[in-house]
Amino acid sequence: MSIIRINGGKRLYGTVKVSGSKNSVLPILSASLLTEGKTVLHNCPNLSDVDAAIKILNHLGCKTEKTGDTITIYSRDSQACDVPDSLMREMRSSVIFLGAILAKVGMAVLSMPGGCELGPRPIDLHLKALRDLGAEIREEGGNLICHAKELTGCRIDLAIPSVGATENSMIAACAAKGTTIITNAAREPEIRDLGNFLNLMGYKVHGAGTSVITVMGGKPKPGDVEYTVMPDRIVAATYMAAAAGAGGDITLTNVLPGDVECITKVLRQMGCGIYMGEDNIRVVSNSPLKAPPPIKTMPYPGFPTDAQPPMMAACLMADGTSVFIETIFENRFRHIPELRRMGANIAVDGRVAMVKGGAKLHGAPVRATDLRAGAALVVAALAAKGQTDISDIKHIERGYDDLPGALRELGADIARI
Ligand code: EPZ
Repeated sequence: MSIIRINGGKRLYGTVKVSGSKNSVLPILSASLLTEGKTVLHNCPNLSDVDAAIKILNHLGCKTEKTGDTITIYSRDSQACDVPDSLMREMRSSVIFLGAILAKVGMAVLSMPGGCELGPRPIDLHLKALRDLGAEIREEGGNLICHAKELTGCRIDLAIPSVGATENSMIAACAAKGTTIITNAAREPEIRDLGNFLNLMGYKVHGAGTSVITVMGGKPKPGDVEYTVMPDRIVAATYMAAAAGAGGDITLTNVLPGDVECITKVLRQMGCGIYMGEDNIRVVSNSPLKAPPPIKTMPYPGFPTDAQPPMMAACLMADGTSVFIETIFENRFRHIPELRRMGANIAVDGRVAMVKGGAKLHGAPVRATDLRAGAALVVAALAAKGQTDISDIKHIERGYDDLPGALRELGADIARI
């Protein structure tokens, strides 16, 4: 089984290109089911989650090609409507295919997505939205059986600004007769990206990225669609946290500074120098860091829950006590016991973690428990003295396109073994 081995204590210098966004390419791959012609997507990250999504498209009857960071999908002949359990289990967020399959075929059979390392991952808001649009959905033997002879535009009031429920609603609403208004919609940049893609396909989506999204149902335009996926703001946050914790001077390219405003604000509060260009950010961390004001994870534009673990690892190197409040997922502190093995002093009380800074971290054998927890271990190991071996790195490879390679380019002593 492969591990990531890091000998910490080296500062990071140089330039790193941020890969395309995992959480944007996944719903866009789902929406590509509805295109009439060929879909060509550029700046796609090379991740196991993306491979899982491509397997689902192939299972549904699409032809796909992946060359470098470009994925081409021919979906006109796809008629299947089921996502088998094996594929659902490979990627929890496969539920993002539900709206598109229903819109295209009028029927969908998915095995109930299980929970994941972050806790139960309910999909009640997805199902309510699709039922609002006219779908009949029943649960039978662990499967979701969905029928929608016709989808009819309506008002969808989301109880929580759920990213996935917003995306499923947008995609299904494109195929609905009439207009759909989605209120309390998630405002994450990935929603904006999906809206841009749907409009390029010929649909009419307004307000993606705001709390109210209007979708005029209709048909996709004939012909091919070509789109470039937005940069991954959480990968960007991870690189910035690594530079803050280990020290150094790095420049990120292919990044949208506006999408990581929350992170750069905290890094400035910690004493890092942040210099932004149109599509690049330079992070300088030379002086000792200081603990930032309390960080509370919130739906966008608040502090992103996905950046909480790597940023917590960076705060271990800051003087003073940092406070993190995790409001989105109930079990998103699984990196903390592993960080403690490296000498971290973190007290947890429910959803609140108090991180005692100024830690003298030392290398240790640790285990990645989920995607961003694994990223936190990498950030901590880069700053720790000595050798750290990280196991269960499949979690990290779900969301990071060759993280060891990118960090080695920046001068880290890191290898995938
Ligand atoms: C997306 O997950 C991301 N995944 C997650 O990133 C991210 O952490 C999350 O949004 C929040 O930003 C992808 O985009 C593939 P939600 P999603 O629906 O859509 C509750 C990563 O690390 N909820 O916005 O599943 C839910 O339990 C991953 O890249 C319901 O109660 O997140 C959670 O508490 C991890 N009912 C909250 O809403 C529902 O029907 C936010 O979940 C749906 C969600």
